[in-house]
Formats: sequence, C-alpha cells, structure tokens
Amino acid sequence: MRFGVLISGGGTNLQALIDAASDPDYPAEIAVVVSNKQDAGGLSRARAAGIPVEWIPHKGKEREAFDAELVERLKAHRCEWIALAGFMRLVTPVFLNAFEGRVLNIHPALLPAFPGVRAQRQAYEAGVQVTGATVHLVDSGMDAGPIIAQGAVPRKPEDSLRDLEARILQMEHQLYPMVVRWAAQGCVRMTDSGLVVQPPEGEVRGLSWAH
Ligand code: GRF
Repeated sequence: MRFGVLISGGGTNLQALIDAASDPDYPAEIAVVVSNKQDAGGLSRARAAGIPVEWIPHKGKEREAFDAELVERLKAHRCEWIALAGFMRLVTPVFLNAFEGRVLNIHPALLPAFPGVRAQRQAYEAGVQVTGATVHLVDSGMDAGPIIAQGAVPRKPEDSLRDLEARILQMEHQLYPMVVRWAAQGCVRMTDSGLVVQPPEGEVRGLSWAH
C-alpha cells in the first residue's frame, strides 16, 4: 500500500515509519515525502532512505490552492493513504475529499484532551498524571476526527517537561508504525456508520507504557 507522508519539521515519526517500512514484510511503502518547508529535517531523512521528496511552499497561496497542489503531487506518486507526521497545516475538504477516510494524523496527547499546539506542555501544566499519543483519522477540525489508537504515557514525579515530551515521542514511534500497518492491512475503514477498526489478532487499540 502506497503512503504519502506529509511533514513540516524534524521528522522523527517519519523516521520511525521509514525504519518500519525497511522490513520486507511491512505492508506499507512510503511513496513520497512532502513538506511545506524547504529546510524540514525530515526531507534529509527521506533522501537518505532513497524516498522521493517534494517541497510545496504554502506562502501566498489560498489554502484550497495549496491543497490542490498537494493532491496533484500525491496522486502523481500514486499514493493511496496519507500520514501527516508533524505537518503544521490545516487541510481543507479539497484534500480530504481526494483521500476520503484515508488521512491519518498523530498527536502528542490523549485526544480529545489537549488539541492544538504544544499539547505536551498543556498536559504537563495541567498536572495530568497520564498523557500519551493518539493516531486519528483527519477531518477538517484541528486534531479532530475519529480515534484509531492511543498510547498511554505516565508522568513521573521527577519529570521535567522535556522528559515527558521525550517519553511521549518514544510512544509515538511505536504507535504510528503500528497504525500505518493496520491501515495498509485493511484493518482501518471508514464506513457509512463511522470508523471501523479491527486490529490483527492479538493486537489492541490502546498501548501502555512498558518501561
Ligand atoms: C510530533 O509530536 C507529532 O505528534 C506532532 O508533531 C510532532 C512531529 O515530530 N503532530 P517529528 O517531526 O515527527 O519529530
């Protein structure tokens, strides 16, 4: 199954997907990595792995026009599913209709708590004792859309914000390759009555922190 991965930054989640996809048994292939930022670190990761990259600047463009360009490039690479991985743009129906029910996002909190930017800091400052990461289907809201799977991460008493952020990121790197694999295996489907997720035998939609 051909995936397009969209990034704006360093791309550690992209790297986790690249690493997973290097296993010949992994059912998803990264067909292209697209960034709206020319200097996104993730582009170097993609190039190092021999994956085609596209830079599509968003500045000075209407959202819909930018999204139409994204769709055109992703279709040119024959992408069937899209994984947003630190892509800092809201997508419009132009994009979502082109890949209906096939756009994933990862967010560094247990949605619907703490949507938006600096989710880890929001959770830290709220004093929550368990936070984590969420992979969800994307709709036109900010960090909205049906939840596919979540990974819970404890806050430890001595944690700095950075400690907590690092632990959440480690969880993201387990969770995203798992859900992308499920999507490629046909375990994640949008139906008329909503999202259906049927994990492979022995797997569950909630990961817990095992360290
Ligand atoms: C991650 O925390 C992800 O949850 C959020 O953006 C960050 C991207 O990090 N959507 P990276 O570029 O994958 O390292």
